[in-house]
Amino acid sequence: MSPLLVPSKVTCSANAEQDLRRALCWIGFLIVDLRCHRGLKQMKLVTRPTIIVEPPGPKAKEIMRRDEKLTSPSLTRTAPLVGVRAEGVWVEDIDGNVYLDFGSGIAVVNVGHCHKKVVEAIKRQAETCDHINSCDYFTVPQVQYAEKLLAMLPGDFPKRVFFGNSGAEAVECAIKIAKWHSRKSYLIAFIGAFHGRTMGALSLTSTSTSARKFYFPMMPGVMHVPYAYCYRCLYKQNYPDCGMWCLGYIEDVVFKKLISPDEVAGLIVEPIQGAGGYIVPPKEFLPGLRRICDTNDMIMIADEVQTGFGRTGRMTCFEHWNVIPDIIVMSKAIAGGLPMGACVSKADLMDWGPTSHENTLGANPIVVAAALAVLDVLLEERLMENAEKVGGYMLKRFEEMMDQYDLIGDVRGKGMMVGIEFVKDRETKEYATEERDDLILETFKRGLLILGAGPSSIRLAPPLITTMDQADIGVRIFEEALRTVSK
Ligand SMILES: Cc1ncc(COP(=O)(O)O)c(C=O)c1O
Repeated sequence: MSPLLVPSKVTCSANAEQDLRRALCWIGFLIVDLRCHRGLKQMKLVTRPTIIVEPPGPKAKEIMRRDEKLTSPSLTRTAPLVGVRAEGVWVEDIDGNVYLDFGSGIAVVNVGHCHKKVVEAIKRQAETCDHINSCDYFTVPQVQYAEKLLAMLPGDFPKRVFFGNSGAEAVECAIKIAKWHSRKSYLIAFIGAFHGRTMGALSLTSTSTSARKFYFPMMPGVMHVPYAYCYRCLYKQNYPDCGMWCLGYIEDVVFKKLISPDEVAGLIVEPIQGAGGYIVPPKEFLPGLRRICDTNDMIMIADEVQTGFGRTGRMTCFEHWNVIPDIIVMSKAIAGGLPMGACVSKADLMDWGPTSHENTLGANPIVVAAALAVLDVLLEERLMENAEKVGGYMLKRFEEMMDQYDLIGDVRGKGMMVGIEFVKDRETKEYATEERDDLILETFKRGLLILGAGPSSIRLAPPLITTMDQADIGVRIFEEALRTVSK
């Protein structure tokens, strides 16, 4: 038995409640231990992470060795996980270690891994009809899903949807709608934005130069402007005394010195910057962008690929600011892990005709069946409420940690989207990139999966089904790893 199995996360306590929790954790630990050794199939019995072989174990190492020669070296590979089974908030690796998944496969498994209803819907549809090409024919699931999805999105106006296979493809669709409808060429995007890796989406992406290096020329006509990243304001301003200078920059500099607004088709924005570092803008930012779009006849595109489907406690994150975009792009959590993207627009913006935009695999019936089940689960299990409650609790716990650990420069988030930015020094705000990366590996070794974002931030995106107890386990492991890294 690995020393990591010794329940170091179960701390001694003086009061009865904590003793009870401790006892329960021990019982959970024993069940998991039995499960791992006897190969039980039921991950539902899991109550805490269990590391039986220090990861990566021998089987994982073997897969990684084979993978190294075969797959593209462009993949980040945050930690040496070889996942073979997953259920709810748990992921099991090939050596039998069980991890608490606070990354949700990059904000994908909002309803939890392998949700029974989603799995059943997939099986049912796979046995009935595997593929009908939606560009040439019609399917029942596509119509049913379009009706349900459009009814759940904000905006009291007719809408239309185009289905694709990924976030980047949904963004490509939005770019084309904006250009086609407006007959204008320019687009505005934000510094630190992530919209995908295909050439159109990449031209809007600006998380790092390494994502863009050697791909010039991309789609021309993209103007990047500063996002409201108040912790690191590019103009060295302080919110709220700044008077939202980042909004003023668009109107006073871009529109007066660089491009006439009547040449701008639209603007694309993440309501919370995801890969950029889980950056939550102040309350004036998104309403201010809406006003700029309205004043200048520009289309407002919301990239809800990471923030959507209940992750922040609302169906779309824009709802927190009562802002209604003209186009919404979605993917990731939409079909519980099956590849799908959707671009929803005001109906009158999709005024293009046949062959202007289509694909082969969009709205594949099996994928759409999964998406229908995901929507049902979100509502039936009141997961948005849970995201708000448990996410809010976690945010508070991390804010409290700031008193003890100088490495934490900023804590921010909404619902189950929590960002923690690491700095070497709170005054200079020098990025603590190595420390952030070390922390990810330290939590991994202890059975917690988390991801990085931006130069030195951690992004926590647990499944929306996460309970308070599971949140506590994750926070405790995080703190234990942070203590190690801080030394
Ligand atoms: C906000 C946002 N937009 C678009 C994308 C691209 O999605 P995909 O990786 O499915 O192409 C991502 C992916 O991380 C994202 O976070």
